Amino acid sequence: MRHLLDTQHLSRADALEILDVAEDMADTQRREVKKLPTLRGKTVVNLFFEDSTRTRISFEAAAKRLSADVINFSAKGSSVSKGESLQDTAQTLQAMGADAVVIRHGASGAPRTLATSGWISAGVVNAGDGTHEHPTQALLDAFTIRKRLFGDASRGRDLDGIRVTIVGDVLHSRVARSNVWLLHTLGAHVTLVAPPTLVPQDVSGWPVEVDYDLDHAISTGPNALMMLRIQLERMNAAYFPTEREYSRRYGLDARRLEALPTDSIVLHPGPMNRGLEISAEAADSPRSTVLEQVTNGVSVRMAVLYLLLAGERPDTEK
Ligand code: CP
Repeated sequence: MRHLLDTQHLSRADALEILDVAEDMADTQRREVKKLPTLRGKTVVNLFFEDSTRTRISFEAAAKRLSADVINFSAKGSSVSKGESLQDTAQTLQAMGADAVVIRHGASGAPRTLATSGWISAGVVNAGDGTHEHPTQALLDAFTIRKRLFGDASRGRDLDGIRVTIVGDVLHSRVARSNVWLLHTLGAHVTLVAPPTLVPQDVSGWPVEVDYDLDHAISTGPNALMMLRIQLERMNAAYFPTEREYSRRYGLDARRLEALPTDSIVLHPGPMNRGLEISAEAADSPRSTVLEQVTNGVSVRMAVLYLLLAGERPDTEK
């Protein structure tokens, strides 16, 4: 693996390899000493042009647990405000010895530009680009679904026949796009639920079913319900009903939680708008995997960095 730019072009074999290496990494994270020596001498740069809590810290934790050095760059407070270009910023960080660049950017396609322009030789990982993709979020979501549904029998398993319903602001969601492609590749059946104004125009080319009625979608008994954050910061008011109307029609509340099959799970990538797309009862219920997703994110990102920088399956016995 040279770069991880999206899940649309990730093969089933590569996706399963990442998930299985993440299982090995998760085993190491249950030990008293969590650190592995495997990326000693490597440098990972977190290049963040948009805000982040989970993804940036998770990549930092993942790199440090593998003994890599980490440089954190935030566009806020940097020379980006003086007009420095992506090329010059990236080349400056490469000149300080970056082996991998983890990039979050508001422009869809920025990670691909970095990976293919020839500006830098480091491996590139997409940590979220515009409304395009967020591949490590989808991988950690798939890992979480697999783990909750199959437990210790997860290794090597795909999601064939598993029904996942993704609810909310699909239009602006890079998380939804990455999940649609990855879940489809792994054999899951994906249903999108959203108001018509928050469904992308090109959805007919996606491997999904679309339902505009959340209560109907819940009545079909999904194994996993993935609630999306409403991205008010990317939104034109014309797209969106009032918050109260949205919550009434598309929010996950205690009544809808009760209507789900007893063994189905609830995911949310965070950050959550409690009371808008998800109620406190749903967010904090035993079916919610929100914090497991965060924990699993470190193992998945360890796996990605390992496969990118070491290129082979780690020896986690050391
Ligand atoms: N899920 C996610 O990408 O969260 P952050 O924006 O906090 O990184």
